[in-house]
This record gives sequence, C-alpha cells and structure tokens, in this order.
Amino acid sequence: MTVSAAFTDPRTGEPLGDDGDSLVGGGARYPVVAGIPRFCEIENYTASFGMQWNLFERTQIDGEGVSLPISSSRLFDETAWEPAQLAGLDILEVGSGAGRFSRVILKETQANLFSIDYSSAVEANMRNNGRFGAGRFHLAQASIYEMPFPDGRFDKVLCLGVLQHTPDFEASVHALIRKAKPGAEIVVDFYPVRGWWTKLHAKYLLRPFTRRMPRERLLRLIERNIDQLMSASRALRRAGLGSLTRFLPIVDIRTLPLDMTPAARRETAVLDTFDMFSPEHDHPQRIADVAAMFERGGATVTFAGFVEIATGQAAVVRAVRKPGQNG
Ligand SMILES: C[S@@+](CC[C@H](N)C(=O)[O-])C[C@H]1O[C@@H](n2cnc3c(N)ncnc32)[C@H](O)[C@@H]1O
Repeated sequence: MTVSAAFTDPRTGEPLGDDGDSLVGGGARYPVVAGIPRFCEIENYTASFGMQWNLFERTQIDGEGVSLPISSSRLFDETAWEPAQLAGLDILEVGSGAGRFSRVILKETQANLFSIDYSSAVEANMRNNGRFGAGRFHLAQASIYEMPFPDGRFDKVLCLGVLQHTPDFEASVHALIRKAKPGAEIVVDFYPVRGWWTKLHAKYLLRPFTRRMPRERLLRLIERNIDQLMSASRALRRAGLGSLTRFLPIVDIRTLPLDMTPAARRETAVLDTFDMFSPEHDHPQRIADVAAMFERGGATVTFAGFVEIATGQAAVVRAVRKPGQNG
C-alpha cells in the first residue's frame, strides 16, 4: 500500500494523492516530513510528549530498555486478544508515543497497523519500528479529533495511556468509536479516579506550576533531584510511612519494572516523573463514567474494570461498536 493509499483527507474524507513531498486531496496539502505524513500542526499542546519520547525513545521498548515483555503482556492482558487471530486485520492505534505497543503488534502479530500520534513522538516511533512489518505499518502525525481515516474503517481500535491527556475525554472516546467498523472492538486504558484522595497527590498539587515551566528546565530539575527523591521514597517505605510517598514529587517507584539495571531504573524514573508533571492535560476518570461515555457514543461495553499488569493495575474499558451504527 502506498503512503497516500493508507490515509484519507481528515477534513473531507476524500482519497489522497502523492505530490512530491506532500499528500494532496480535498484542496489541502499535507507535508510528508521524515517519511511521515503530518495532518496537524507539528507543534501543538503535546509538545512535551514529543520531547519526552524523542529523548527516551527506547527506554520502555521490550527487549531494549526493559528485558521482560512488559508492553507485550500489558497489551494482550488488557485487550484479551489472541495474536494469531489478528492476522490480516486492520488495527488503529491512537497515541502511539515512541511505539512500544506498535512494536508488539508488528512483531507478534500479522495485523496491518495504522498508528497516529499528535506529537513529534511519531519520529521516535518511526526510528523504533519503521523497519518492522514489511508494508503492514502506516504511521502519521494527527489528532484523535481529526484522524486521516474514514469512519467505520477498522477491525480493532486501541488507545493506551492517552485519553487522560486529551482536552475532552468523552469527545475522544466517541472519535475512537466512529473509526471502528460496526461490531468491531475498541480497547482503552486510562488513569483512574479511585476516590476523593486521587488528586491529593504531589502530581496534581504541583502540575498547575510544572506544566507551565519551560520543558527543558523541568527536565533538568527532575534529573538533578531524582536520586534524592528515590532515596526519600525508599526511606519512607522502610519506615512504614509509604502512604506519605504520594506527597513526594516523583513517580511511584514501585511501578518501575524490576528487571532493570540501576541506571535504567533511574532513567525510567526520570521519564515517568517528567510524564507526570509536564503534559498540558491530565484528566483521570472513574471507570463507570468512561463506560457510560462508550454507551452514549454508540458502543456496548463488554468489560470495565481493573486489569493486573506488571507495573500495577490498569483501568481498562473494552467495548464493541453497535451494529447498525453507520460508518
Ligand atoms: C503517555 S503517552 C502514551 C504513549 C503510548 N501509548 C505509550 O503508552 O507508550 C500519551 C500520548 O498521547 C498523545 N496524544 C495526546 N493528545 C493526543 C491527541 N489529541 N491525538 C493523538 N494523540 C494524542 C501524546 O502525544 C502522547 O504521545
């Protein structure tokens, strides 16, 4: 499949043609930069993710930054998909970041993968995964709200770790449902609200300041202080005061994979802490509320709850687009 044939004009739904270094259609021109079609402004509210995933592009990739198959187990445990049953299916992945789940789908299944991300993280994904899939991988920079695909196009839709970082969670859920074929499955995970205490946490207390800081400065601040913060976190747990670690401005270090060298653990702690404090949007949700969003969007929820994964518990909703919903 040529690059232009993999995508349609996000505004008009019309087919696209190739014209030099651009895709053209519906009166619009979309540049192809570094081999990746761009259907949005290259700089937008996700710039912190672009920086993070281009700097830490291998840190979370199975077999590279981590030796255990952490992303593979997470993907298949959360979706309950059988790799062999995905052969030949068209899968949409929204918010692919540096491509840890793209890699799993390309290497462990024979599905055709269409991945988008709104940030320049697509460049990290291309470096990580462009060589896999032999024509089965189609990657673009685009927003969940303006995807370069027709409605009702996909056999499966996957969106992991993304929805809380979009400005309108419910509009994002509905956008995912629209791209699924009637009867096709959509699987998402997201940050859960567990109770009133969820936002009583250093992350939500400090984010009003940190998300406005220059990103490079925030990263330097985290890098300078990560060792002391990791030590303080361990000391509080040893003293039986683990509940106080929520007030330390660092990721919960119990969620860091154990199969890592100390240097890789430190790098992951820096990455995950930057990921807590830098994004423009961070809107955790109650699982029941997300299930209701799917029902309002025209999908039948088949699972809504927590799934055990290597790094803790993930809040997951699986749903099927209702038959009869036009595509
Ligand atoms: C925490 S990262 C998760 C990346 C990847 N799914 C993973 O788990 O490694 C969230 C990603 O969502 C992307 N994102 C945020 N808003 C988006 C939007 N409107 N459309 C598409 N992607 C978006 C960000 O650019 C970022 O790469």
